[in-house]
Amino acid sequence: MMRVLSLAAVFCAAMATQASADTIAVIGTGTVGTMLGPLWASKGHTIIYGSRTPDSDKVKALVKETPKGSAATSQAAAQKASIILLAVPGTAVVETVKSLGDVKGKIIVDATNVLVMKDGKVMDPDTKESLAQQLQAAAPGALVVKAYNTMSAAAMKDQAPAGGKISLIMSGDDAGAKAKVAELGKSTGLQPVDIGNLDMSRFQDQLGRFYVAYSRSHAPSRVEIELHPYTPKP
Ligand SMILES: NC(=O)c1ccc[n+]([C@@H]2O[C@H](COP(=O)([O-])OP(=O)(O)OC[C@H]3O[C@@H](n4cnc5c(N)ncnc54)[C@H](OP(=O)(O)O)[C@@H]3O)[C@@H](O)[C@H]2O)c1
Repeated sequence: MMRVLSLAAVFCAAMATQASADTIAVIGTGTVGTMLGPLWASKGHTIIYGSRTPDSDKVKALVKETPKGSAATSQAAAQKASIILLAVPGTAVVETVKSLGDVKGKIIVDATNVLVMKDGKVMDPDTKESLAQQLQAAAPGALVVKAYNTMSAAAMKDQAPAGGKISLIMSGDDAGAKAKVAELGKSTGLQPVDIGNLDMSRFQDQLGRFYVAYSRSHAPSRVEIELHPYTPKP
């Protein structure tokens, strides 16, 4: 009887691992894609890099360091995945998402920032809508979650140099999609903080600019952001 129970426990554990393993398209093979792709692969996810040059030596080297990893055009990668990470320059976000084909029902994690510079200073862009809202308008039906844009790429993997606690600030209109992104973040040591629907991503854009402006003016120091949501006692 004991043996039967322990086999059942092993089976349940295997099913649990299986349930949380996703196929993730990492679009963009720069600093962020190179950080998150191998990291998520090490947690059991299947990574397909979406690149403008999937056959380049740079991308081949990245695939090599990614267990079960592969590379394709961005559209092919996105079509095979249930989760799509956008890790491209903010100026390329809308054009990139339009090139992915039908992404209805897929989770799009938008890690991007738009940087408008003037006289060496980070400026506010001349738009009322956030980048993630523009992205959502270009991909109706996609489950857009803004996340990962308010921290350094290094902190996505290792939070110890910044004191151990870094918030994964997230917003989006789909609770299930946010829960999935929270699960991804927690698996790599981040502390998810859901700040609300996608309208709130306007403030993440501002925090992203703050992060970049601080890093530029205090180099080589950086800042990482930890939020403390709480309810004051009456
Ligand atoms: N670096 C950070 O610490 C950090 C932290 C948080 C958020 N972010 C944000 O995350 C996004 C990616 O940052 P990153 O540092 O990874 O940028 P990056 O090193 O410049 O890489 C961006 C990648 O996007 C792809 N890409 C697609 N269209 C492009 C285009 N028109 N021009 C240039 N590259 C294009 C390229 O990959 P392929 O050649 O494979 O197509 C490129 O390697 C940015 O929006 C950034 O603001 C960065």
